[in-house]
Amino acid sequence: MTDHWLSVCAKTDIPAGEWITFDTGVEELLIINLEGDIYAIQDLCTHDGGNLADGELDGDEIVCPRHGARFCIKSGKVTTPPAYEDIKAFPTRIHNGMIEVQVD
Ligand code: FES
Repeated sequence: MTDHWLSVCAKTDIPAGEWITFDTGVEELLIINLEGDIYAIQDLCTHDGGNLADGELDGDEIVCPRHGARFCIKSGKVTTPPAYEDIKAFPTRIHNGMIEVQVD
């Protein structure tokens, strides 16, 4: 992975427990604020392409709204079928109050 950081928005724009979608120009990500920590994952369920943005957060997992697969938002690892492949998770950082995400 190259050292390519994209600026997303101010950290204060995403309240705790909420998320936004962010288009990197290559793919859609979810930028999630979990109790003040920011995580970035692919917005694409590996089961059948559902958008995770419409799902629910349960602890550190996001639940796909279509058939209930679950993914860890910290690692992208799948935790519950019917998906069996992980999604991508991306490093994030805060720079001058702005959320940045590292992409390929
Ligand atoms: S598309 Fe996500 S569980 Fe089926």
